[in-house]
Amino acid sequence: MKILTIIPTYDEIDALPGTVSRLRAAVPDSDVLIVDDNSPDGTGEFAEELSAEDPQINVLHRTAKNGLGGAYIAGFGWGLERGYDVLVELDADGSHQPEQLPKLLAKIDEADLVIGSRWVPGGSVVNWPLHRIAISRAGSLYSRTMLGLKVRDITAGFRAFRRSVLEEIDLSSIESVGYGFQVDMTFRVAGMGKTIAEVPITFVERTQGVSKMSSNIVVEAMVNVTRWGLSARARTLAQKLRQR
Ligand code: GDD
Ligand code: MN
Repeated sequence: MKILTIIPTYDEIDALPGTVSRLRAAVPDSDVLIVDDNSPDGTGEFAEELSAEDPQINVLHRTAKNGLGGAYIAGFGWGLERGYDVLVELDADGSHQPEQLPKLLAKIDEADLVIGSRWVPGGSVVNWPLHRIAISRAGSLYSRTMLGLKVRDITAGFRAFRRSVLEEIDLSSIESVGYGFQVDMTFRVAGMGKTIAEVPITFVERTQGVSKMSSNIVVEAMVNVTRWGLSARARTLAQKLRQR
């Protein structure tokens, strides 16, 4: 099983080295792809240095900060072209603990998508301010209700996909720029009738650098979820009417 762990970065020069070395120690078999959006702090050049020292570390440079969704789509394309069987998403800032990745990978035989989940029994969040917990829980609840999904942590960013799932999705049609990308992917994978497993994780708030979360990201996700939910309902209704 060829594994690729994709790490999107924007101004993560302080946190990246720790994350990469923990990942290399925890899952030595996994190759690494850092997708940097021309970070002003020099994360991209630093990633090149890491890559020069370790043949399993690769870097993809994008020209500007174009959002988490675009970074992952570029990373998936890179990995699919090179024949990886499992593609993993991991934040650069240490919030996703590489030591917990084997738990996710242990389930990839049973599920097409494995989500490292904060909001299932055994999952937790360490050091998150109350407003972030509220946004995440409310966002997950709203998305689950609107989209009719069973997944508890819909916006989670610690995931493992089987290549076959990604091959079946038209990645170029994904328009979500921000963290709504995660909801988009969950909705699509569930809609394809694929199996999704959630594994409890401990999400640890970053101690270095700053979050790229913004109100634009929240608004984009809410608008899209509402749109997708309503059009799914309209489709079901149209189907019922046709059957009468
Ligand atoms: N290349 C690139 N381009 N990377 C980005 C961009 C971008 O535009 N925006 C964010 N990132 C990277 C960050 O550098 C980090 O490695 C990762 O994406 C997550 O960004 P954070 O800013 O640390 O996100 P967070 O901690 O606020 O949000 C977490 O929770 C969200 C909601 O549950 C993450 O786990 C998200 O993935 C998750 O959706
Ligand atoms: Mn973070």
